[in-house]
Amino acid sequence: MSEEKIAVIGGTGDLGFGLAVRWSLAGAQIFIGSRDEKKAQDAAERVKETANAGGSSRTQDLRVSGCENSQAAAQASIVVMAVPFPAQAAILKSIRGSLKDAILVDTTVPLAGTIGGKPTRILGVWQGSAAEQARELTPPGTPVVSAFHNASAEVLQDLSITPDCDILVCGDDEPAKKTLFSLVKLIPGLRPIDAGPLEMARIVESMTALLISVNRRYKVHHSGIRLTGLPAEARSG
Ligand SMILES: NC(=O)c1ccc[n+]([C@@H]2O[C@H](COP(=O)([O-])OP(=O)(O)OC[C@H]3O[C@@H](n4cnc5c(N)ncnc54)[C@H](OP(=O)(O)O)[C@@H]3O)[C@@H](O)[C@H]2O)c1
Repeated sequence: MSEEKIAVIGGTGDLGFGLAVRWSLAGAQIFIGSRDEKKAQDAAERVKETANAGGSSRTQDLRVSGCENSQAAAQASIVVMAVPFPAQAAILKSIRGSLKDAILVDTTVPLAGTIGGKPTRILGVWQGSAAEQARELTPPGTPVVSAFHNASAEVLQDLSITPDCDILVCGDDEPAKKTLFSLVKLIPGLRPIDAGPLEMARIVESMTALLISVNRRYKVHHSGIRLTGLPAEARSG
C-alpha cells in the first residue's frame, strides 16, 4: 500500500477525478480539493463508487476524503494541480499558504479552448509554460514538477481500460521527480519518463494540442504517446 498523501486540487473535475480513482485504488491517501467543500465530499464518495463499480475488492480500504482546496493542500505531501489554465493562478494563490513541505505537481495545459479559442492551439504564457507560471506563484523552496499533460482523463476514469501512455515528467528538483516517478508507477499502464528541466514543460504542454488534433482526425478520445529507443531501465518504467 502506498503511504503517499496526495491532494488533488480540482479533483472534482475530469483529470483530477481520474487520478484520484487510480491512486486511491493503489492505496494512496487522497484529499480531493474543491472551491466547494460539499462538492469535494460528493466527489470523494463518487471515487469510492467508481472503484466499487470497477470491481475492486479493496473498496472498503479506500482512503479518500473531500475538502476545500487549501485544507486539502495542507494535509498532503504531494499537491496535484488539476484545474483549467484560466483558474490556475487564482487557485495557486489561494493554496500557497497551505503548501508546507509538499511537492507541487502541475498538470495544466494552457489550451486556447479554455478562453473560447481553438482547442488545438496553445496560449502564450509569459513565463514560458503553465508549469513555470506555477513555479512563480509557489513559495520558494516548494519543488514544482509538471506531468500528466498527455494522459487521458476519460481513460483514467474508466477502470475497464488499462492506460497506455508515457508520462513526461519535467522539473528541476531531482528528488521531487523521483517521488513523482513512483506515483506514476502506481497506475498500471503509465510509464514515467524524465523529460528534463521544468522549462521543457512548454513542449510537453503543447503536445496536448497535438493529441487533440489527432483525436479529431481518428475520431477517438484518448490518443497517447510512447517514446522508443530508451534504455531498459526506462522501458520498464
Ligand atoms: N481532461 C483531460 O483529459 C486532461 C488531460 C491532461 C491534462 N489536463 C489538464 O488538467 C487540468 C484539469 O483538466 P480537467 O479537464 O479535469 O478540467 P475541468 O474538469 O474542467 O475542471 C477541473 C476542476 O477545476 C476546478 N476549477 C477551479 N476554478 C475553476 C474555474 N474558474 N472554472 C472551472 N473550473 C474551475 C473545478 O473544481 P471545483 O469547482 O470543485 O473547484 C473543476 O472541477 C487542465 O489544466 C487541463 O488542461 C486535462
